[in-house]
Amino acid sequence: MPETILITGATGTVGSELVRALSNRGVHVRAGVHSVIKGDRLRHLYPEVQLVELDFQRPETLGVALTGVDRVFLLVPFTETMVEDSKRFIDAAKAAGVKQVVKLSVMGAEVEPGIQLGRWHREAERYLAQSGLPYVILRPNSFMQNFLAYQGTSIREQGRIYQPQGEGRASYIDAFDIAEVAAAILTADVARHHGRAYPLTGPEALSNSDVAAIIGQTTGRPVQYVDVPEEAAREGMQGAPQWMVDGIMELNALIRAGHAATVTPDVQQLTGRRPRTLQEFAQEHRAAFLPA
Ligand SMILES: NC(=O)c1ccc[n+]([C@@H]2O[C@H](COP(=O)([O-])OP(=O)(O)OC[C@H]3O[C@@H](n4cnc5c(N)ncnc54)[C@H](OP(=O)(O)O)[C@@H]3O)[C@@H](O)[C@H]2O)c1
Repeated sequence: MPETILITGATGTVGSELVRALSNRGVHVRAGVHSVIKGDRLRHLYPEVQLVELDFQRPETLGVALTGVDRVFLLVPFTETMVEDSKRFIDAAKAAGVKQVVKLSVMGAEVEPGIQLGRWHREAERYLAQSGLPYVILRPNSFMQNFLAYQGTSIREQGRIYQPQGEGRASYIDAFDIAEVAAAILTADVARHHGRAYPLTGPEALSNSDVAAIIGQTTGRPVQYVDVPEEAAREGMQGAPQWMVDGIMELNALIRAGHAATVTPDVQQLTGRRPRTLQEFAQEHRAAFLPA
C-alpha cells in the first residue's frame, strides 16, 4: 500500500511546493490546510490530493489529520506560539504512530545563543529529537520568495528594495529546492536520514545590491537597493507585534554582519541537481516583479 504523507502549512510557500513535488512522485499526499478557501486552490491544481483541516491552535484537528498517516512534513509558521504548537503536534504524531517527521527549521538554529527565531526552532528541534520519533531537520536560509512577499510591492511600484542590511550577503534559497529536498527524504528509506540536520542554501551569496541588479536585468526595468536606517525599518513595520518586529530586526542584523552568506552543498547532494539561482527565480516570476 502506498504511504500517506501529511504536509502541514500545505497552502504556504514551502508547503504548496511540496504538494507539487510529492504529487509528481505519485505519493499519497494529505494536505493539512488552515483556511479551507486557500485549500480549494490546491484541490483545483491537484485533484488527487486529500485535504484535511489542520489548525495548530485547535488540538482536536490534529488527531483527525494524523489518522492513518505514515510520515509528516512539519511546518509551523513563525508565530509567538510556534514552540507550543510544535510540541503539541509532535505529541499527537507520536500518539498516532507516525514513522517519520521531517521538520522545517531555520539556518543557524543550532547556534548558541542565536536569535529568537533560531531559539524557538531549536527548542522544537530538541523536543522532536527527544520524542523518540524518527526525524530529520531541514534548516534553510532566507527564501528567494521573500523578495516577492515582502519587497514585491516596492519593486513593482517604485523599482526599489528597502532593507536595513547594508551590503551583507545571504545565500537565498528557492522554496522549490527546499521542497525537492523534503520530497527526496520523505520518499527514501526512513533509516537513511534519521537524526540528520541539513543546512540548505542557494548556490551563491548575494547582497541586496546584487539582487536588485539581477531582478533589474531580468525584467528589463532598473531596480535599486536602498539601505535604510534601523529606526526607519522599525517604523515601516508599524502595526506588527513587537516580538515580530524585534525578530525581523535580529535577522536583518545577522545578514548585515555577513553571517548568512554560507553556501552549502546539501541541496545538490540530496537531490542530485544544483539549487536554483536567483536569476532563474526572477525569470520564473518576472511578471510579478513588473507593474501590472
Ligand atoms: N521565510 C524565510 O525566509 C524562512 C527561512 C527559513 C525558515 N523559515 C521558516 O519557514 C516557516 C514558514 O514557511 P512558509 O514561508 O512556507 O510559510 P507561509 O508561506 O507563511 O505559510 C504558512 C502556512 O501555515 C498555515 N497556518 C497558519 N496558521 C496556522 C495554524 N494555526 N494552524 C495550521 N496551519 C497554519 C498557513 O495557512 P493559512 O494561510 O490558511 O493561514 C500556511 O499554509 C517558518 O517556520 C519559518 O520560521 C522561513
